[in-house]
Amino acid sequence: MNPLLDQLQPYPFQKFSKILSQIEPSTKHAQIRLSIGEPQHKTPEIILEALQNHSKKVAQYPTTQGSIELRSAIKAWVENRFGIDNINADTEILPVNGTREALFALGQVVLSHSEPQSVVVMPNPFYQIYEGAALLAGATPQFLNLGTDTSDGWQLNELDANTWQRTKLLYVCNPGNPTGHVMSLKEWEDLFAFSDKYGFVIASDECYSEIYFDESSPPLGAITAAKLLGRDLERLIVFSSLSKRSNVPGMRSGFVCGDADILQKFLLYRTYHGSAMNPTIQSASIVAWKDEEHVKTNRILYKNKFDSFIDTLTPHCTIRYPSAGFYVWLKTPIDDVEFAKRLYSEYGVVVLPGSLLARDAHGINPGKNHVRIALVADQKDCDEAAQRIVNLLHGGFG
Ligand SMILES: Cc1ncc(COP(=O)(O)O)c(C=O)c1O
Repeated sequence: MNPLLDQLQPYPFQKFSKILSQIEPSTKHAQIRLSIGEPQHKTPEIILEALQNHSKKVAQYPTTQGSIELRSAIKAWVENRFGIDNINADTEILPVNGTREALFALGQVVLSHSEPQSVVVMPNPFYQIYEGAALLAGATPQFLNLGTDTSDGWQLNELDANTWQRTKLLYVCNPGNPTGHVMSLKEWEDLFAFSDKYGFVIASDECYSEIYFDESSPPLGAITAAKLLGRDLERLIVFSSLSKRSNVPGMRSGFVCGDADILQKFLLYRTYHGSAMNPTIQSASIVAWKDEEHVKTNRILYKNKFDSFIDTLTPHCTIRYPSAGFYVWLKTPIDDVEFAKRLYSEYGVVVLPGSLLARDAHGINPGKNHVRIALVADQKDCDEAAQRIVNLLHGGFG
């Protein structure tokens, strides 16, 4: 067996479920689960119809590169969303079966087992796939703390020059899960400068980019930042997904866009790995990428939930609107695991302790004393959960 598999940690939900299994849930309240970031709004009819209309497209093998119709629809979306006009649909775009598999797979392409000193830099707290991708490629994960009181943004100098010299790949989560942080142009400029100096690839995970609260200012993405800074896509790969944008996490549809030389190797790898997208899903994805109305409707639903959730909690604790995404990153007055356990046992609300989403790095666990609350349930349940959290806060923690 591959010994590297032993280095993988259980998922944060698994760790927390184990903790919860040892305590009794509240019997006075119906359970509200806000722990997993699984979109629960309705899938738009146009996508369901497309799935049905194309359900018989299974008589041929799809190509790994995907149809030109799908890549053209993605190209048009990328150019419109990120304000550029010269993306090559043949060399700079590849469909992927959700960003999760692609984030993992890119690590296997960029990293080499013959360079065992390789480092993969990632935010902390973070999406656990980044760590698994690094470990299974034989590299060492290194963390940059985010979401603490003192560092909301990237502090690149937290790592020394020797570590940067060994860095081959860096994962960015923008907008961030769980912090909701969106990188500024200055942060991008600094990050690109490090990539130029040390030669590492930037994998920008932007699967939450379409969940934001001000229609006039969508989150700044890596491609727009590169354009504003007069750069091309060298050493940059952006990951985007329909899962959150279009409420189709079960469809497994996304894309990568970026450096043509890396994507050529990525395509080769994917051909062997066998990760072509199902043709029915390709057809439904074309419909989804071409329509923005359902995405706007989706944003309104999230904004309404955030408005009332944050209004309810503001008088009772330190809470702030995330820049984007669907997570509240709430500071807790007591240890985060204790807080989450009491919220479950006394009020039947399940949220995820922040310390389980992070690792100890640079002397702290930056997730500690925070919980991640995914506002994925319906408005009524999110409102009810906010009220129960207020009740827990008022009950005192003596
Ligand atoms: C930060 C982050 N990246 C990627 C993903 C994977 O999304 P998908 O594979 O559905 O595109 C998730 C899913 O929750 C996520 O939170």
